[in-house]
Amino acid sequence: MPNDPPSLDMDVWEFRRLGHQLIEQMAQALAAEHQEPVMQPASGQEILDLVDEDLPRHTTPPEQVLAQCSDPLLQFGRRNGHPRFFGYVCGSAEPVAILADALATAFNQNLTAWRSSPAAVEIERLVLRWLDQMVGFGGDGHGMLVSGGSAANLQALTCAVYQAQERASLPTGARHQLTLYLSKEAHLSMIKAARLLGLAEEHIRLVDVDDQRRLRIEDLRHKVAADLDAGLVPAAVCASAGTSNTGTIDGLDEIAEVATEFGLWYHIDGAYGAPAAMVPEYRWMARAFARADSLSLDPHKWLYAPLDSGCVLYRDASESQRAFALDSEYIAVTQTEARESFAFFNHGAELSRRFRALKIWATVKTHGVDRLTQAIAHNIELRRHLDDRIAGHPRLELLGSELSISCFRYRPAATLDNDALNAINRRILETLVAEGRVLMSPTTLDGRYALRVCIVNFRTRAHDINLLIDEVVRLGTSFSANLPA
Ligand SMILES: Cc1ncc(COP(=O)(O)O)c(C=O)c1O
Repeated sequence: MPNDPPSLDMDVWEFRRLGHQLIEQMAQALAAEHQEPVMQPASGQEILDLVDEDLPRHTTPPEQVLAQCSDPLLQFGRRNGHPRFFGYVCGSAEPVAILADALATAFNQNLTAWRSSPAAVEIERLVLRWLDQMVGFGGDGHGMLVSGGSAANLQALTCAVYQAQERASLPTGARHQLTLYLSKEAHLSMIKAARLLGLAEEHIRLVDVDDQRRLRIEDLRHKVAADLDAGLVPAAVCASAGTSNTGTIDGLDEIAEVATEFGLWYHIDGAYGAPAAMVPEYRWMARAFARADSLSLDPHKWLYAPLDSGCVLYRDASESQRAFALDSEYIAVTQTEARESFAFFNHGAELSRRFRALKIWATVKTHGVDRLTQAIAHNIELRRHLDDRIAGHPRLELLGSELSISCFRYRPAATLDNDALNAINRRILETLVAEGRVLMSPTTLDGRYALRVCIVNFRTRAHDINLLIDEVVRLGTSFSANLPA
C-alpha cells in the first residue's frame, strides 16, 4: 500500500486566519485606491526583478506566499477601480461582487451542464434572464456568460456562420464563400472571430461610416447586393451599440431592416454600450436589440462586475445548439427532464466553465436595477459635464462624444499644423499617464490625435472630471508656453 504523500491541504483554522488577513489586505487596498496613482510607471525589467524567481522546489509558508504576491500588484498594477481611470473600457469592480467571486472560487463549481452543478447553472440561467430583461433583448435569456466581449462576438458569429452555411447548403470547408459586414469603426474582435471561423480575409467587408462614424446603410446595402451578384453568400451583419473608440451607436433599426431584407444574421456588439439601454434616454436601443439574432454585452464593462464577465445572448437556442452541440460518451447527459438535461456546452465553445454568474447575481441583487441604472445614467451625465467643460474652454476642442466616451484635444493659442497638435497632445497624455493622477487612453480621429475618456466607473464624480480638465490645461499651457502666439 502506498504511503500518504505530504498533504496539500490546510488546517481549517489556518485557512480562516489567513482569509481574515487577506480580506483586511483587500479592504485596505480598496480604501486607499483613490489616493494612489492610477498607475505607477515602471519598466518591464523593474517588475520582472520583483517577481522573477527560480521554480520553487520546496515549500514556502502560505502567509509569505500571499503577502509576496500582493506587493508587486499593489505597486505596479493598474488601478481599474480608481475614480480617475478613464482608459480603454474597463469597469470598476463592485465590492459585493468581489466577495461573491471569492465565494464562487471556494465552491469551485464547474458549469458544464446542469448535471455537474445544478444550483450554479440555475443561477447563471437566472442571471442571463435578468441581463436579457435589463437591456430589452427579449430572448428569454438564451446564451451564456463568457470571458468577455471577444468571446461573445466569436460565439455569436459561429452561430451566424453555421446558419448561413446551412441556408446556402454549403459543404463544410466552403466558408470562403461567406461574407461578413461590419463598419470600419467596429471592434477588432469581430475580424478576429471571422478569421478563426475560416472566412476569407477579403470577404470581411468593412462598410463606410458617415460623419458621425455610424455604419453607412447605403454602403451596406450596396456591398451585400454586389456580393450576391458575384455569387457569394452574405452571412451576417454586425452593428455596434457603442464603439470602443467614440461610443458611436450605429443605426440599429435601419441595419435590422437590411438584415431582414437580405436574410442576414443580425449581431449587435453591445459589449460596452448595451447596458445604456437601461437608461430612459437610450431605451430606444432595446427596440433594435429585440430584432437582433444575437447580442454581446459585458457586465465587466458597464455593469461594474469584476473580470471576467462577458455575455452572449442568442434569440434562438436551436441556432447555438446547431453550431456547438456534439455527441460524445464521456460528456453524455442522462437526464431527460428539460431543465435537468440542459448543458451549456451544447451552446458555446467552453466545456469547463467557472461560476461567473455569482458576482453578477450579487451586484444586481444588492443594488437592484434602479440603482444600477442611476449609476449608468450618472456616468453619461459626467460625460456631458466633460463635454460642457470642453465646449466652454477656449483651448479645448471636442472631437467626438457619445454614451460615456468623450474624445478631445488641447489647442494652444499659437496656430499649429495638425502634426504639431498631435505631438503636443501625445505629450500631454504621456505625461499625465506617467504622473499617475489621471489615466486616459489615446485614439486618432481623422488623423487628429485625441485624448479619450471613457467613464464606466461608479466611483467617478464631477470633481474627478474637473481635475482631468485642469490637468490637461495645465500641461497644455506649459508645453505651449514658448510657442509664438
Ligand atoms: C465594443 C467592444 N466590443 C468588444 C470588446 C472586446 O471585449 P473584451 O476585451 O472583453 O474581450 C470591447 C472591448 O473593449 C468593446 O469595447
